[in-house]
Amino acid sequence: MSKRILSCMQPTNRLQLGNYLGALRNWVNLQDEGDNECLYGVVDLHAITNGHDASALANATRETAAAYIAAGVDPRRSYIFAQSSVPEHAQLNWLFASMTQMGKLERMTQFKDKAGKNAERAGLGLFAYPVLMAADILVYKASHVPVGDDQKQHLELARDIASMFNEKYAGGEEFFPLPEPVITGPATRVMSLRDGTQKMSKSAESDMTRINLTDDADTIAKKFKKAKTDQGNVPSSEKEGEGRPEAMNLLGIYAALSDTPIEAVMNEYGGQQFSALKTALSDLAVAKLSPITIRMAELMSDPTEIDNILKAGAEKASSLAAPTLEDTMKMMGFWKA
Ligand code: AMP
Ligand code: TRP
Repeated sequence: MSKRILSCMQPTNRLQLGNYLGALRNWVNLQDEGDNECLYGVVDLHAITNGHDASALANATRETAAAYIAAGVDPRRSYIFAQSSVPEHAQLNWLFASMTQMGKLERMTQFKDKAGKNAERAGLGLFAYPVLMAADILVYKASHVPVGDDQKQHLELARDIASMFNEKYAGGEEFFPLPEPVITGPATRVMSLRDGTQKMSKSAESDMTRINLTDDADTIAKKFKKAKTDQGNVPSSEKEGEGRPEAMNLLGIYAALSDTPIEAVMNEYGGQQFSALKTALSDLAVAKLSPITIRMAELMSDPTEIDNILKAGAEKASSLAAPTLEDTMKMMGFWKA
């Protein structure tokens, strides 16, 4: 049966290796499976929830779209669009916001992380972020959502909102299908290169914590060379890797980039010094990422092509979203001429 796939990333900073291994690569696999209808959004409305630079937003949206295409999303087969060009997302967000308890949003760990100690000062948008995310998914009645592990809780909320709506306004029928998270592969949670207990993130302060999709070969080599490890040698089994998050992270990245099971990587490098693994990892990362980096730069040199792709994507996305919003409003009892 064909699936409807929807996923998104925020146009904040440059995409990093975790975005690629945890999400983007699976987007491409799902697209290549055949019959699936895939929609990949650049969620610019989400990107303004934690402060943003107005002069950089539009270009960051283009760059994120360029990264999707460079990584293998084919705009002839998948729809790539900016969230703000499909107003149904924001409209459905409001309808869902009115059905979502604050208590549920207070439990969201991403909000707690991003708001930090000063939650009182955080914006309403940051707090309500997961509701807009539910709207992103449900406005297309998406069946599958490929994301990294950190989005699991948000997906649960989207399922919760869908069931609440179905119960309350659709007489228990499945008007909104419950979206399935697709969290797969050896790198659903890539960790920081400087601290194996923190996830790799494009918004972390230090650039040394992450590999960006736009890093050149020297930068990649330098970052892996300086990556934190421990006093021991490379672990040769899961057991030897226990309590050694930095070592396991490097092995996990190697496994993901080389498409081999982590056990095979441990067989090959276990017992050796970390420097051997780090050198191999740099070479592998450069080989895998440089075609993406080059393609991204090419695409960014002609913004009209990206703009046309985003325009066509938005038209298609709107044509799918509009009837869902209309039905939803009808079911909720709004007046209409
Ligand atoms: P974001 O950078 O927050 O817009 O994330 C975009 C997508 O990348 C989401 O599906 C995330 O779950 C995924 N992602 C972000 N960072 C990581 C990471 N360190 N490891 C695995 N997946 C990640
Ligand atoms: N919250 C996601 C993140 O930070 C981005 C996102 C917004 C998303 N809307 C979505 C992901 C809809 C999947 C589906 O990574």
